[in-house]
Amino acid sequence: MAITKEQIIDALRNVDDPDLKKDIVTLGMVRDVEVNGNDVSFTVVLTTPACPMKDMIQRACENAVKYYVSKEATVKVTMTANTSSQRNGPVLPGVRNIIAVSSGKGGVGKSTIASNLAAGLALQGAKVGLVDADIYGPSAHIMFDVMHEQPKLINVNGRQLMVPVESYGVKILSIGFFTDVNQAVAWRGPMATKALNQLLNDADWGELDYLIVDLPPGTGDIHLSLVSAVPLTGAIVVSTPQNVALADAQKGIAMFRMPTVNVPVLGIVENMAWFTPAELPENKYYIFGKGGAVALAEKMGVPLLGQIPLVQSICEAGDVGRPAVLQQNTPQAIAFLELAGNVARQVAMVNANAGTTAVVS
Ligand SMILES: Nc1ncnc2c1ncn2[C@@H]1O[C@H](COP(=O)(O)OP(=O)(O)OP(=O)(O)O)[C@@H](O)[C@H]1O
Ligand SMILES: [Mg+2]
Repeated sequence: MAITKEQIIDALRNVDDPDLKKDIVTLGMVRDVEVNGNDVSFTVVLTTPACPMKDMIQRACENAVKYYVSKEATVKVTMTANTSSQRNGPVLPGVRNIIAVSSGKGGVGKSTIASNLAAGLALQGAKVGLVDADIYGPSAHIMFDVMHEQPKLINVNGRQLMVPVESYGVKILSIGFFTDVNQAVAWRGPMATKALNQLLNDADWGELDYLIVDLPPGTGDIHLSLVSAVPLTGAIVVSTPQNVALADAQKGIAMFRMPTVNVPVLGIVENMAWFTPAELPENKYYIFGKGGAVALAEKMGVPLLGQIPLVQSICEAGDVGRPAVLQQNTPQAIAFLELAGNVARQVAMVNANAGTTAVVS
């Protein structure tokens, strides 16, 4: 009996997307099914290029064809992605998702997380931008080793737009490109909001899967207006295991959930979760406490997106301007990549639940 396309599609109805909890045919992820004798090929279009379950889904597809259709089939699956989005308005039409990285407390590693998340998503094939909106202490230009660069200006349809500076595959705009590092920036709320709006709107971002926004610390008025000024897909809250940081993280989550703000919280990241000395990579010392972030995530009903160890090389990487996620196969790189994958998954779930996921070819 010759294999038919219909048989292949029916077989693939047995393969579920584990996050979206529907089969990949119903989700419209299967394209270009071709059958030539025993040679079967098709494409699976995932909702993010950073999908950590990519290999698993691919194997499930191959197995489904062999099991439900024919053991003799030779299956070629092409895995691609079309990042889901709820945004199709006039604001930043090429940007599919805007994700804020925030913390209640300062100095917990927000910028470190934002940079490594951005570089990690780019490493996995996503188109990524990073906006450093921390007017009080911009750092993205340092963490990506572009502090001596200046965004160029281009004219697009009569508008002057900034061209983000690119480093490690990430398009970057930072307040740091425009302010003197020695000068303490003491802007008031409306100016901060205006500056953030300009970094977002008066820039030539092109097509982006994810635009990461590194916010200044806090849950005050300025912060609230910054958050409300941006059409966010979701927010990530960074905390250390310390109780003071966790209490502020909880305030941060509450702020995003205020009816006037109403931004989905993608989850919590626990930074400096444990200390690991370079010479004893297997050892974990819980110097700031243990278990608090897990408990907070549970209490607030949000995922724990990742736990990042306190290691000297993360700090050094920030100073030399090469994100630690690029230190291949180290515990810190693995932790940051896992975080990036989890963020991508949560974004896909938020978009799917919004029910208005734009499917763009
Ligand atoms: N996991 C880590 N291991 C080692 N050092 C870290 C880690 N996370 C952050 N750091 C270091 O801690 C310092 C503060 O981190 P970072 O600047 O990312 O915090 P922040 O929350 O953005 O601070 P601010 O509130 O001032 O914006 C930096 O020197 C950074 O390199
Ligand atoms: Mg910062």
